[in-house]
Amino acid sequence: MRQPGRHFLQIPGPSAVPDRILRAIGQQTIDHRGPDFAAVGQRALDGMKSIFRTRQNVFIFPSSGTGAWEAALVNTHSPGDRILMFETGHFAFMWGKLARRIGLNPEIIEGDWRGGADPDQIEDRLRADRAHGIRAVCVVHNETSTGSVSPISEIRKAMDAAGHPALLMVDTISGLASIDFQFDDWGVDVAVSGSQKGLMLPPGLSFNAVSDRAMETAKQASLPRSYWDWHDMAGPNKTGYFPYTPATNLLYGLNEAIDMLHEEGLDAVFDRHARNGAAARAAVRAWGLEVLCNRQGQESGVLTAVLMPEGHSADAFRAKTLELYDMSLGNGLSKVADRVFRIGHLGDFNDLMLMATLSGVEMGLANSGVPHTPGGAQAAMDILKANAA
Ligand SMILES: Cc1ncc(COP(=O)(O)O)c(C=O)c1O
Repeated sequence: MRQPGRHFLQIPGPSAVPDRILRAIGQQTIDHRGPDFAAVGQRALDGMKSIFRTRQNVFIFPSSGTGAWEAALVNTHSPGDRILMFETGHFAFMWGKLARRIGLNPEIIEGDWRGGADPDQIEDRLRADRAHGIRAVCVVHNETSTGSVSPISEIRKAMDAAGHPALLMVDTISGLASIDFQFDDWGVDVAVSGSQKGLMLPPGLSFNAVSDRAMETAKQASLPRSYWDWHDMAGPNKTGYFPYTPATNLLYGLNEAIDMLHEEGLDAVFDRHARNGAAARAAVRAWGLEVLCNRQGQESGVLTAVLMPEGHSADAFRAKTLELYDMSLGNGLSKVADRVFRIGHLGDFNDLMLMATLSGVEMGLANSGVPHTPGGAQAAMDILKANAA
């Protein structure tokens, strides 16, 4: 059956792709080894440095974010290396699983999936590691499965306070270009990101930002790698080229996305996400439901994960909302499957789109027989009115 109007893609990535980016992607593919390509590649590589807020190194892979996770680890480690990870949620767990599969030895600090990584616990573990056997600390910036943000600069300070030389690796796949992230100023060594969230592109590109120190570490790291090798990339990248066929059309889109982010201003982009996040949480609380993230100050502006009342299926509610209002909401992942639904409010998004989304959720709750107090959408509107950008 035809569904009139636009589909509401309110999952926390992929986010809706703006027409301007779709048009850029629709240009003719060119020879990636020809003279015209250099400008495309160079612009993307330089532009991503401005988004990561780094003067150091950025690499672009034709892959999903999982590939960039792997690239971060295989370039910097040798078989059996110990790394410290913090389980903020499903994605932190999955990065740990990947680490184990490629022959690393991850030590996991367990979390309750309701907040970001805890700098104090990281500092304690590092202080206890007197022999400096831990090679890296890996944390997820914006945990997309829970809607919690980890305090990255505090984690760097904790590592420094412990006097530990481990590299700081950060998954900012769903944080970059939506939540403040400062690669150089925060002393991050490797950051991992993807195209399909704050960058407003379709899935298919992933990124590593890499400190000069991590580039040096890569020279000694002996895990097998070929496709992901930073040093193989760095050579051709100097002139805007790639060692293998890049995703040319996604790079056109990326260059458009970078322009759009700078036209709005990165700080304005972060404020917009924070404002929409605050309004979404106000709606959830007015409905009498619980926001999964329960650490004040760590709630995400990218998405809001909502706990269903006991005995009610989040997946049945999402299915109903899709059927009635043509809106896709994010599902609960692994440990919180069917217990949680996620409202994505990221990317090319504004106050009225948020209001439509929250209206759809409120009507969906009613149509699914989920106990709640009506008026959440109004509570969100009050926040948006009071904080008009
Ligand atoms: C925080 C985070 N890390 C990693 C991933 C995995 O990325 P991908 O699905 O692009 O491989 C995702 C995907 O949603 C994510 O949100």
